[in-house]
Amino acid sequence: MRIHVVDHPLVAHKLTTLRDERTDSPTFRRLADELVTLLAYEATRDVRTEQADIVTPVTATTGVRLARPRPIVVPILRAGLGMLEGMVRLLPTAEVGFLGLIRDEETLQPSTYANRLPDDLSGRQVYVLDPMLATGGTLIVSIKELIKRGADDVTAICLLAAPEGIEAMEAELAGTPVTVVTASVDERLNENGYIVPGLGDAGDRMYG
Ligand code: PRP
Repeated sequence: MRIHVVDHPLVAHKLTTLRDERTDSPTFRRLADELVTLLAYEATRDVRTEQADIVTPVTATTGVRLARPRPIVVPILRAGLGMLEGMVRLLPTAEVGFLGLIRDEETLQPSTYANRLPDDLSGRQVYVLDPMLATGGTLIVSIKELIKRGADDVTAICLLAAPEGIEAMEAELAGTPVTVVTASVDERLNENGYIVPGLGDAGDRMYG
């Protein structure tokens, strides 16, 4: 598993405002959207392309276009939905699948309540969107489901990650073709499973 922390002043600036408890829901949604586009730029560095022969007004030339099959973007409901627009702005031809998971507040175990993924993901590049990688439980279940369906290249885009969650993913997904792209690896999880310093509950701050 690879971890890529995007080190960029605009990312740091937007993330700081996102963390601020005074940031209201409309601003939070807008900033999350902008941040995703910046993270997506890094996350798609290895998106598969193929040669394309075109003719400019001046001459024939060779460029690239996105390869087929198209990449698939999977937001994890609920909070991942707030990242979808920012992602498909960069990848407008991507297919979109959906997973819905909720983490039990006591046990911190995730359970799946919605699954609208293509049955066959063989040979597909998949971009999973979830703002928070806390214990890692949600992403581990989600990514195992994608790999079970044949995905051979999975990139998770998270606004924030906790070291505990990264460790759990490394243990559970060792040897799998998974990359995590995030704006920050924070200090730790607290006793309630919240990322510290974090930004609170992303779903509540977007939609609550
Ligand atoms: C939050 C968050 C992640 C998950 C992370 O979702 O959006 O999906 O928890 O936690 P984990 O890494 O410990 O599994 P939540 O269950 O609150 O659902 P929501 O998106 O509907 O608010």
